[in-house]
Amino acid sequence: MATPPDPAPLPDGAEPDPAEIPSDGGASRTAPEVVTDRLLMRGFTDADRGPFARMNADPRVMEHFVAPMVRDASDAFVDRILDHWSTHGWGLWALERRDTGEFIGYTGLWPVRFEAAFVPRVEVGWRLAAEHWGHGLATEAARAAVDHAFTTLGWPEVTSFTAVGNLRSQRVMERIGMRREPEWDFDHPAVPVGHPVRPHVFYRLRAR
Ligand SMILES: CC(C)(COP(=O)(O)OP(=O)(O)OC[C@H]1O[C@@H](n2cnc3c(N)ncnc32)[C@H](O)[C@@H]1OP(=O)(O)O)[C@@H](O)C(=O)NCCC(=O)NCCS
Repeated sequence: MATPPDPAPLPDGAEPDPAEIPSDGGASRTAPEVVTDRLLMRGFTDADRGPFARMNADPRVMEHFVAPMVRDASDAFVDRILDHWSTHGWGLWALERRDTGEFIGYTGLWPVRFEAAFVPRVEVGWRLAAEHWGHGLATEAARAAVDHAFTTLGWPEVTSFTAVGNLRSQRVMERIGMRREPEWDFDHPAVPVGHPVRPHVFYRLRAR
C-alpha cells in the first residue's frame, strides 16, 4: 500500500477541516482503465507526449495560466503523472475518444501541494485540447473521476479551484455538483502578485 502525501498543518487561525488527503484504498500502481459513454480513460503512453505538448502550448488552452508550456515542461509533467500513479495509486488519466482513438487531454485527481489555507487536499482537474471543447467530454470524464474517488477509493470529498475568470472550468465544477465555498477563495501562491490569473475560486464536492 502506497503512502498518501503527508498532511500539512493548517496555518494559525485557519478553520480546521476534517478531510485530509486520503489514502489510496489499496488502488493499483498504474492507471486503471475507466470506460465512459464516449471516452477511454487510461494511463499516459509515450505516444501521448506529442499531442499533450501541442495542447499545453496552445494559448487558448492556457489562457487562465501564467504561460503556455514548452515541450520539456510538458514531458516533465507526463513523467510526474506516471510517477504519481506508481507511487500513490491515483492520479490523472489520459483521455482517448472511443470513436476516433484520439488523445484529447486529461482529467483526474491531483494533490494540492502549494501553500494555501485548505491544503492538504486533492483536486479534480481537467484540460482538453480546444477542438474538443463544447461536447460535454470534460464533464463526462470528471464525473467518472469523482465516482472513482468516492466509490473505488472511498474518499470523503474532492475539491477544485481555478482562476476567477475561468468560467468554462467553473461550469464543469457546477455540472458535476460541486459547490463554491467563497470563504476558501485564495490568491494562487505560484502566480505573480498582480497577475490577472492569481485570484482563484474554491469548489468542493462531498461524497454522499
Ligand atoms: C475547462 C474545460 C475542460 C471545459 O471544457 P468544456 O468542453 O467547455 O466542458 P464540458 O465537457 O463540460 O462541455 C460543456 C459544453 O459542452 C456542451 N455540451 C454538448 N453536449 C454535451 C453533453 N452531452 N453534456 C454536457 N455538455 C454538453 C455544453 O452545452 C457546454 O457548452 P457551452 O460551453 O457552450 O455552454 C476546457 O475549457 C479546457 O480544457 N480549458 C483549458 C484548461 C483549463 O482551464 N482547465 C481547468 C483549469 S482549473
